[in-house]
Amino acid sequence: MAAGDAGRSGPRLEAALGDITIEPVDAIVNAANSSLLGGGGVDGAIHRAAGPELLARCRTLGGCDTGDARITPGFRLQARWVIHTVGPVWHGGTRGEPDLLESCYRSSLARADEVGAESVAFPAISTGVYGYPTEPAAAVAVSTVRSTPTKVRLVRFVCFNAETFDAYRALLGSQPL
Ligand code: APR
Repeated sequence: MAAGDAGRSGPRLEAALGDITIEPVDAIVNAANSSLLGGGGVDGAIHRAAGPELLARCRTLGGCDTGDARITPGFRLQARWVIHTVGPVWHGGTRGEPDLLESCYRSSLARADEVGAESVAFPAISTGVYGYPTEPAAAVAVSTVRSTPTKVRLVRFVCFNAETFDAYRALLGSQPL
């Protein structure tokens, strides 16, 4: 089931409940850490699905700053590319977390545009281990994607739990079933 908003310029935005590693899109976004050497959560799932070549490639990148994004092939994933971005750790919202999270979405779209990816799937960056509250993070994600000029035609927010899916559906409006 997906929710989305159509009928405006810029990418079509959708929300879906599921596992980002099996999303049939050009690029999936990984909520990584600054080492880019893997971890738990969606980072662990993407590395498991992509296979060991992904880690080998990530080792050559020299890490990634919070708010920035790096792109690699998807290797064994259906997605042709993985865009690795590093979200902010939540410290209560007074250390620039919203701006850093916004930068993750903006940087990821820039990496997608550089390779001509037309469809991109995002997880709910920073809302797991990094503790960013779900609703405020979803609001940053949707407003940033809506306001960032990009050649990407479809952005799907892939939610791993109902709470996250509800937050995105509330922002996007649910499509008629
Ligand atoms: N598909 C889609 N979303 C997923 C998946 C999956 N397979 N697995 C987890 N998620 C969701 C989580 O439920 C959460 O909503 O991704 C969101 C982000 O959670 P985390 O993966 O914990 O990422 P984050 O909060 O950004 O923390 C990043 O965690 O795994 C480590 O190496 C990573 O140190 C980094 C930190």
